[in-house]
Amino acid sequence: MAVSFAPGRVNLVGEHIDYHDLPVLPMALERGIELDFTPRSDGQVVLRNAEPDFGERRFPVESGLTPGPPGDWGNYAMAAAVTVAERYGGSVGLDGLLSSNLPPAAGLSSSSALVVAMARALLHVAGIEPDPLELAEALAEGERFVGTAGGGMDQAASLLGRAGHAVRIRFHPFAVEPVPFPENWTVVVAHSGVSAEKSGGAREAYNARRRESTAALAELARRMGEPGSAPRELLERHGPGRLLERCRDLEGPGGPWASHALTEAARVGDAVSALRERDLVTFGDLLNRSHASLRDVYRVSHPRLDRLVEAARDAGAAGARLTGAGFGGCMLAVCVSVDAGSVVERLREAQLAMDPPPDLEPFTVHPGSGARVAG
Ligand code: GLA
Repeated sequence: MAVSFAPGRVNLVGEHIDYHDLPVLPMALERGIELDFTPRSDGQVVLRNAEPDFGERRFPVESGLTPGPPGDWGNYAMAAAVTVAERYGGSVGLDGLLSSNLPPAAGLSSSSALVVAMARALLHVAGIEPDPLELAEALAEGERFVGTAGGGMDQAASLLGRAGHAVRIRFHPFAVEPVPFPENWTVVVAHSGVSAEKSGGAREAYNARRRESTAALAELARRMGEPGSAPRELLERHGPGRLLERCRDLEGPGGPWASHALTEAARVGDAVSALRERDLVTFGDLLNRSHASLRDVYRVSHPRLDRLVEAARDAGAAGARLTGAGFGGCMLAVCVSVDAGSVVERLREAQLAMDPPPDLEPFTVHPGSGARVAG
């Protein structure tokens, strides 16, 4: 028997920009998905879940799999199997039992953690020690099997998280840079009570944002006389100021969509500096501005998330914002550790004032290590 563990993540800042290959700043959690497994020699996966209601899933490890209904957890395990079969070959299978101490559909990446735990287990059975950066890229692409056109943040954070650190993730070239997270700061997470299932209800809204903002940024590049340039290249050459001016000329929602990406990317760079300087006031302010942009410009918040964000700030948090794709799910707040108790308490009061109140009470999270296999 061996154990594959993959953590979930919270994204501190850099929301809805990984799919534009702009940098993001998440941290892996100590909570995650655990897969207890034993190898099978017939190339089949037989998966059970510690929650008996989830039933059993059975499929071969091969490239031609077809996903089940949208939102089905088995699709994420299949996404890992397809990726391993296509990228690494080898006829491997396993009997596995999954358990989780991450709330599902909360924007904490339980689904990517499942993909990562499953892929690491299959590769372990095959005797392959993958390069983590390569695997993160392969799984980001592989997870699109479930029908959501996600970016590369979640798999990279789960694979390459570092205890006590946030990680700045850059794309093209793919790189992960650990940034120490001050020991006397605490991150509090609270659920809105609105499920934000990545491959379920929120899928269409997420995919539409991605499609439309990609088109807007491509149009911006054309108007700058640099068709085909990536947003990162535009930012390097012109800085956000000039680009933001040109965003005003874009028709429809394209202008706001593109300007969110540009300002959010700048906030990630500033947040890394604030973290390194242990400057909580600046860091918190960047989080608050990120939330305002996600709420008012990119429009992916939810009134319940906005209420929780306000409550956390009233309780003394330096900054608070939705985390993950939005449309529901969780928010996070960052505060000095001595204030964490009162932030948790105020968030619970705000939850209890909702009808119906979220089941999950607010909790604190700490930066944890990346995925690992033992046994
Ligand atoms: C989801 C996706 C990520 C990212 C976030 C929004 O979690 O899986 O790739 O796009 O939404 O930042």
